[in-house]
Amino acid sequence: MVKASASQTKGKILVTAALPYANGPIHLGHLVEYIQADIFVRFLKLLGRDVVFACADDTHGTPIELAAAKEKIKPEELIQKYYDEHTADFASFFIDFDVYHSTNSPENKFYSDLFFNRLNEKGFIQQRLVELTYCENDKRYLPDRYVKGKCPKCGAEDQYGDQCEKCNATYQPIDLIEPHCSLCGTAPVRKQSLHYFFKLSAFSQHLQQWLEGNRNIQGDVRHFVESWIKSGLQDWDISRDGPYFGFKIPGESNKYYYVWLDAPIGYIAATEKYCRENVNKTALEAYWQNKDATIIHFIGKDIIYFHFLFWPAMLTAAGFNLPSDFAVHGHLTINGEKMSKSRGNFLTAKDYLAVPGHEPEFLRFYYASHLTKSVSDINLDFDDFKGKTNNDLVSNIANFVHRTLVFLNNNFDSRLEPLGNDEKFFLQQLQPKYDSIVKNYSEYNFRDAVRELLELSSIGNRYFQENQPWQLVKADKKKCHRVVSVAAQMVRDLMLLSFPILPKYSEKILRLFGYENFGTLGLADLGKFPSAKKLYPARIVFAPIEETIALAPVFPAVLKVGKIEEITEHPDADKLYVLTVDLGSRGGGRIEDGEIGSDNAAEEKAEKPEKSEKERKHRIIQLVAGLRAYYRKDELLGKKIVVVSNLKHAKLRGYESHGMLLAADDGSRVVVVSPQDSDPGDLVFPEGSDAEKILANRKQLAIDEFYRLNLRVKDEKVVYGAKPLKTRKEIISVDAADDAVVR
Ligand code: MSP
Ligand code: ZN
Repeated sequence: MVKASASQTKGKILVTAALPYANGPIHLGHLVEYIQADIFVRFLKLLGRDVVFACADDTHGTPIELAAAKEKIKPEELIQKYYDEHTADFASFFIDFDVYHSTNSPENKFYSDLFFNRLNEKGFIQQRLVELTYCENDKRYLPDRYVKGKCPKCGAEDQYGDQCEKCNATYQPIDLIEPHCSLCGTAPVRKQSLHYFFKLSAFSQHLQQWLEGNRNIQGDVRHFVESWIKSGLQDWDISRDGPYFGFKIPGESNKYYYVWLDAPIGYIAATEKYCRENVNKTALEAYWQNKDATIIHFIGKDIIYFHFLFWPAMLTAAGFNLPSDFAVHGHLTINGEKMSKSRGNFLTAKDYLAVPGHEPEFLRFYYASHLTKSVSDINLDFDDFKGKTNNDLVSNIANFVHRTLVFLNNNFDSRLEPLGNDEKFFLQQLQPKYDSIVKNYSEYNFRDAVRELLELSSIGNRYFQENQPWQLVKADKKKCHRVVSVAAQMVRDLMLLSFPILPKYSEKILRLFGYENFGTLGLADLGKFPSAKKLYPARIVFAPIEETIALAPVFPAVLKVGKIEEITEHPDADKLYVLTVDLGSRGGGRIEDGEIGSDNAAEEKAEKPEKSEKERKHRIIQLVAGLRAYYRKDELLGKKIVVVSNLKHAKLRGYESHGMLLAADDGSRVVVVSPQDSDPGDLVFPEGSDAEKILANRKQLAIDEFYRLNLRVKDEKVVYGAKPLKTRKEIISVDAADDAVVR
């Protein structure tokens, strides 16, 4: 049966947004979804609907386990750190969840086991022997993105374990030619393991019928999913071998639920937590088995497969309600490009807020003005952003609000004057616009809701302008008071209707009209004369933005701590030494010191690890250095140094040099830069820059480009501009005079 849409139903509504991975910060791409869902929920609450907004952190899986290991902390500590960060970031954008839980919770364990046992009892779970890639060095099975090798179809080098980027062939990690573990570089072996499979194939017909019957589902999405069903559904491996961070499978000692099994169950776990604290019912009674309840998921297009096949099949098998509606959105691009670390346009929630004048509501307004119920990508264009903010929000909406309230305050002590019939008639003309705005919100068409809100404030501004209250106040003060009171009612209506998008700004304005309970703010007053006789006086403004986000160029030199292992005199050049340098065990581009990976975590959908991470072997390089005039061999042997590791290789009098070591030269002395507390392989980077971005951006650097960075000594530190160079463990110091050149 098709349910009434969310704006019609009088029953309980549950709205969820996808659970962000607990190993990276909330970024501007995530915010598209959380802002979209928050606007919708606020709108439903404004309509007086009984709605709960639930979400949680997605905390399980290999990437989270490895990220914690890299930081030398427990996964529990890592996910707690991200829980705190995520909830703070959401709050700073006024994303107001009724419950924000974690998949690593007792509720989620309970429901995961309940699903597993129920599916098992009904015969939907089978054990099968699978052959996997296993690294004997790391003692772990390797998921797709942790194995690389040659494509079995076209032979292209350096491909991941699931798909060839050259010829697009898909295959299993075990099919790769000359595979290597991307953690340690050694060749993995094949190893068998007994895994648990969910019989997704048994649900093809049922899913097909559900898709056909549910008219809320977006056409594009339906077509995708139908084509997957047509091409035949594969049973789904829902288990992983340890080491793994997740819930153990009942009766197993070293097997866990795959993260994507327990992640959507996290929706139920979050609902359970909410119900326990607010309703005297279980999540099942109130929502997941209550036939009068409506469930709506907001997700990105990258996770359609999980939400339109696995999840409804699991819900069906377990005897729970299926979602009534989905809002599937596209991806965020920034100035037309995909957001990525290597492009230097990966922007977090915090990056945005760090720009002076960037109100969180400017981004909400901007996203709203682009959002419809469509899977098309959304582009954040900085010029467009500035234009929409300054011309639409500030100069149109906020200007109308401001001039009206200020005029009322300056001339009429913020009192309202009852309207005459002409004025009432004028206001009645606006009713169809109000209805249309409500309709657009309820159809997830925020773009058109914003367009109409802007039309309303344009009408208001024009009305104000045409009546020239600054003249009228002298000629006919009573009439003028009525005109400004008309404008005041329009301001109030505009703020009620903008509330889902601009919750804090609208709240401030509505408080001036005497509104108090923003939890239960309704639309009942829309179109009616404000009941307050006198408004509270206050000046509430939005200042236009001047600056937009500057995408800082990424520091282009990849500087690594190395250790001199061998040293010989160059046979044909009396100034040169030939050095053998260890760039770190498991060296290469290992992110020893960067912030934790903030890309997606789950194996199946995640961005691949950046290229620089690929070779984690022990790296030994040869350098040729002109140090014979300044250092004896024994002074250098065993010394830790800083190496520019991405320079174009050079040949110096017949000897290859794979980089350059840093030394300070003040004109009289040359002092080798030697970090004390860091280890070979550690990245050296300017304070405040993102180590991971530097690695992701890694490109070959010409020596001139390096010189142009103009590294210098200041207060015995090596500085880039004003920023000292550092590793994760120390600020790099050198015993040399100020302004000595470092190269
Ligand atoms: N943990 C899974 C979801 C599990 S839901 C049971 C996941 N996490 S995520 O952190 O990668 O993404 C969370 C949501 O943000 C997803 O819906 C995803 O589509 C969305 N976005 C992440 N990056 C995005 C963009 N660059 N643009 C728009 N939305 C994107 O997937
Ligand atoms: Zn390995």
